[in-house]
Amino acid sequence: MVPLADAPRRVKVFVAVTASILILLVVLLWQDSDDATPVWVTKNKPGPSSPSAPADHHASVPSTSSTPSKDSKTSAAGSSKDTHSNPNPASPGVKAKDPLHDIGNSTLGFERIFAIGFSNRMDKRDAVTVGASIAGLDLEWMEGVRAADIPEKGYPEGWDTNIRNENEIGCWRAHMNAIQRIVQEKRSSAMIVEDDVDWEAHFRGLSRHFATGARALQGSAEETRSPYGDDWDLLWTGGCAMRTIKPTFYVTYNETTVRPVEHRKDIWWPKISEEPEYEGARFVFDGAVGDCTPSYALSYQGARKILTYISMGTTTNTIDIALARLCAGKLDVPFRCLGAYPTIFSSFWRAGSGMRDSELRDGDPAWHPATSAVAYSTMINAGRLINGSTTALAQWPEMNPQEIPLDYEPPSGEIVTVDELPEEDRTEDDFP
Ligand SMILES: *[C@@H]1O[C@H](CO)[C@@H](O)[C@H](O)[C@H]1NC(C)=O
Ligand SMILES: *[C@@H]1O[C@H](CO)[C@@H](O)[C@H](O)[C@H]1NC(C)=O
Ligand SMILES: *[C@@H]1O[C@H](CO)[C@@H](O)[C@H](O)[C@H]1NC(C)=O
Repeated sequence: MVPLADAPRRVKVFVAVTASILILLVVLLWQDSDDATPVWVTKNKPGPSSPSAPADHHASVPSTSSTPSKDSKTSAAGSSKDTHSNPNPASPGVKAKDPLHDIGNSTLGFERIFAIGFSNRMDKRDAVTVGASIAGLDLEWMEGVRAADIPEKGYPEGWDTNIRNENEIGCWRAHMNAIQRIVQEKRSSAMIVEDDVDWEAHFRGLSRHFATGARALQGSAEETRSPYGDDWDLLWTGGCAMRTIKPTFYVTYNETTVRPVEHRKDIWWPKISEEPEYEGARFVFDGAVGDCTPSYALSYQGARKILTYISMGTTTNTIDIALARLCAGKLDVPFRCLGAYPTIFSSFWRAGSGMRDSELRDGDPAWHPATSAVAYSTMINAGRLINGSTTALAQWPEMNPQEIPLDYEPPSGEIVTVDELPEEDRTEDDFP
């Protein structure tokens, strides 16, 4: 073989071109192969190759949107103000990838989104399917579980059928199946939603705010595998209750899309959010304890811990309380939970009889209008949004603004440590 230095120019060019193609192929294959590995490899896709990054799904939600002003309706895609930019001094002009970039993707920066529901509640699937389509989210459905399909021998140790109704064991198992799937398929993270889920129409900006706070609280490096940071077990992206048990949190004061106290449908919320200084503030908590499971996210490690300590352990509680107890440290195992308040995802009850609402128990048979726990509901605005509107309307007259651009993003906040949390935030009676 002729040494390269002596080779004719044409051969050199051929070798160079072949080598480039091979390198390109290796890079492409490497980028595609992340499905199978739970190892949190840091992948850097710097500026020039960014067109190959996953496309942002929702045209009207630019992933680089940064809208610090509450009344700005023009948070343009080309905005040069990017608080999360990560300039690389070694190569001027080449901007490193925004660590929050992937929150703009079709799985909200998680590896998968699993949606749990009974295939015979086709009505609920219709609603979630159209909502996901509006939001540019890709869901994978997983079948709900009926108690009749679980042999009593397979119930968790400690489960008391005198206290728990049979729908609760079905719900518990359906979530455990989704969690088992994360471990089985080695997903680095996944969000799990239920079929009555609803979310704020400006959820991308809220999720970026959540991730910014979560990263600050974790002390994340600039580059992480997950846009939410790499040191968490569970994220309460949604819920019907939230509090913190740690006195350090991330807060944006006077954030206008926070639901006012009189309209909170949550079972409980952080008492600190009612103190004058924090009224109208948006929080991200480390040591978050939530309840209800319309939407939450797990890391691979978090999912493994749940199978180990909840499924293989003793469980007297419903799935949501079991998760709350893990987060509250009641099981004496390290389990890091972060949460946003107000929650970004919550529940939706479509117009009709309350009997239709839940698979867990029968509601009031009386008719009720379409109701949601979130302020600028995707579901309530669905008609408007499929008609091409780029804004959503608030449910309540107290909200200011009444109309929110879909690409609204809350201003960034700051880390605060208080001397002591209010008494109610510290009591643990709700998750014994
Ligand atoms: C979205 O981003 C996450 C985090 O980088 C990644 O794991 C996931 O594969 C992405 N989803 C899609 C559909 O590209
Ligand atoms: C929040 O807004 C109120 C009224 O506009 C103002 O008095 C207060 O100082 C603001 N709080 C913070 C922490 O910025
Ligand atoms: C839908 O959008 C069209 C075009 O903007 C508008 O003329 C029409 O009034 C809208 N319809 C509804 C029901 O919002």
